[in-house]
Amino acid sequence: MTLIAQISDAHIKAPGKLAYGRVDTATALARAVETVNALDPQPDLVVVSGDLVDGGGAAEYAHLLDLLTPLRAPLRAVPGNHDLRGPLRAALSARCALAPGEGAVDWVEDLAEARVVGLDSSVAGGGHGLLEEASLALLGRALAERQDVPVLIVLHHPPVRLNIPGMDADNLRNSEALAELVRPHGGRVAIACGHLHRSASTVFAGALVTVAPGVSHAVLRTAEPPVRFVMEPPGYVLHSLIDRAWTAETCPVGRFDGPYPFRRADGGFID
Ligand SMILES: [Fe+2]
Ligand SMILES: [Fe+2]
Repeated sequence: MTLIAQISDAHIKAPGKLAYGRVDTATALARAVETVNALDPQPDLVVVSGDLVDGGGAAEYAHLLDLLTPLRAPLRAVPGNHDLRGPLRAALSARCALAPGEGAVDWVEDLAEARVVGLDSSVAGGGHGLLEEASLALLGRALAERQDVPVLIVLHHPPVRLNIPGMDADNLRNSEALAELVRPHGGRVAIACGHLHRSASTVFAGALVTVAPGVSHAVLRTAEPPVRFVMEPPGYVLHSLIDRAWTAETCPVGRFDGPYPFRRADGGFID
């Protein structure tokens, strides 16, 4: 069985610094890593769907790498609007092979029964998402080359709105270009996004789209600007292939009481 754990929106600061003066994002990411490390079986791959750090500086990426060091499973990541390609590429090259250069941080990872495609939707100096022509071309090739396997596309900016106006304004701007590529393959493709810091799922171009909650703070669901955050429970998403179909399961971060049996030794329910 293919199992991919998606964590999102870590927003790591330099050591000792809180995000927005309030959020200990380092402890939050460490908890997420601990939670994923406790999974049995272990995922085949862990993907981080952008906003790895908060400001894009080298000290933040060094801190991020420290926090990700204990992760047992192989790691992949795509940039978000809070990331900077250069420092991200330099830092993550220590954990996974990335094409060199200044361009979009895109990649293709082949697992035994699935292909995972990471697309860089970040725009220098902008908060919104946009897939460059090179990224769209890479996706087109990746889908065409392996018609025989399910594909999970990972990108930061959702190609769909969530009716949170301040966030929706920054979703993926060229969603239709993505839809054109995905539509012919819809049934075998799933799309894993972040950015909204909320758990959501919908269908886009025939593909299951999942938006992962943040591993730290959540974006407040409200129609009233400005966008604010709220400390709702953090989570992550497990993408699994069951009978060659993608299933997305949103799970809480943390350690919880249990497990406990439902039934007695004689088979009856404990009452
Ligand atoms: Fe974020
Ligand atoms: Fe973002």
